Amino acid sequence: MTFNVGTVRKDFPILSKYNRGKPLVYLDNAASSQKPSCVIDSLAKYYQEQNSNVHRGVYALAEEAEIEYQQARKTIADWINVSAEEIIFVRGATEALNLVAHSFSKSNLVDGDAIILTEMEHHANIVPWQMIANEKNLKIKVVPVLEDGSLDLEKLSVLMAEPDSKILSVCHISNSLGTINPIEQIIEEAHTRNIIVVVDGAQSVPHTKLDLKKMDCDFFAFSGHKVFGPMGIGVLYGKKELLQNLPPYQGGGDMIDQVSFQGTTFAPSPQRFEAGTPNVAGAIGLASAIKYLARHDMKELAQHEDSLLQFSQAELQKINGLKIHGNAKEKVAVISFSIDGVHPHDLATLLDSEGIAIRTGHHCCQPLMKSLGVSSTARASFAFYNTIEEAECLVEAVRKSATILQ
Ligand code: ALA
Repeated sequence: MTFNVGTVRKDFPILSKYNRGKPLVYLDNAASSQKPSCVIDSLAKYYQEQNSNVHRGVYALAEEAEIEYQQARKTIADWINVSAEEIIFVRGATEALNLVAHSFSKSNLVDGDAIILTEMEHHANIVPWQMIANEKNLKIKVVPVLEDGSLDLEKLSVLMAEPDSKILSVCHISNSLGTINPIEQIIEEAHTRNIIVVVDGAQSVPHTKLDLKKMDCDFFAFSGHKVFGPMGIGVLYGKKELLQNLPPYQGGGDMIDQVSFQGTTFAPSPQRFEAGTPNVAGAIGLASAIKYLARHDMKELAQHEDSLLQFSQAELQKINGLKIHGNAKEKVAVISFSIDGVHPHDLATLLDSEGIAIRTGHHCCQPLMKSLGVSSTARASFAFYNTIEEAECLVEAVRKSATILQ
């Protein structure tokens, strides 16, 4: 099917909404993306026709819910080329990263071991590691970001060569800068040093067709709501042999083998990591989003997004006093920028009055903001359903607002 932006927009009901009396121009896709009708319908269908708890009932309705839930796991696993038993359903990338930080560190790291993070990480890929590092007396080492918004790969190599480095947790794509890290190259080098690699893929799954077997990461986290699926569902992928030896993160129903007051034994993975009633509807909705993406050529979607990026960057750069943060050669359609003398919140408020939704603030990346020498930026982030007319609208509104505010 050849990509046509007008056709795909019809799949997303919210895109025909008005914002402050103007057609909605939704450019906050890195925060959360919009949902096609098939995802919304799958949630309604689940609650109207299939709702019951999983793993328990012997009645037909419960069996149907169980089949749909496990089928969702398989759909997602196939999409990223892993096996279904390597997929753990969680609330989102944040919970996935907390799970791996706590469970892996508890069972594999000892006093004095080091975790490598980077300056471009989201707080979700910093704070869980800090929490466990404080508990277990682990070190945290940080890879700097270069002027163009790419990672300092030489420094990363130096840190990886140090014998105390045991784990690297790094984003595939930066949520603030759009930088695409050379993840396969990084993983290959890490593995030569026996370093386990955790990838925060929250920003890459919406933009790329991934093959995690080829990438060879050890763990990979992403959220459903950024990939056109529902909120409150996400995925932690882990290599089977690693998951098998990982202790549970939360205790409760469904994750056990036998429970007595003398002690408890646990179910195998992935059940061991899914304590309590899972978000069945969310999993089905996420699978529906993946099936929607699978009906498109992801390369075509990415090319369209890139044309929006190239146009918007080139035009925004012409605006007096505007600086784009992050100009790495490899980047997705995320544009973080500042304008001399203009507070990003004021800019976003004026854009909102034109119907345009962007995000401002530190984007949950305060260490990155510090290295950029700013406290916040304005960020426009595109999805494949955005149009060149919307990009023009953004550029024009930023130009007009800058004149008013400067
Ligand atoms: N992590 C999300 C963002 O970048 C919320 O906006």
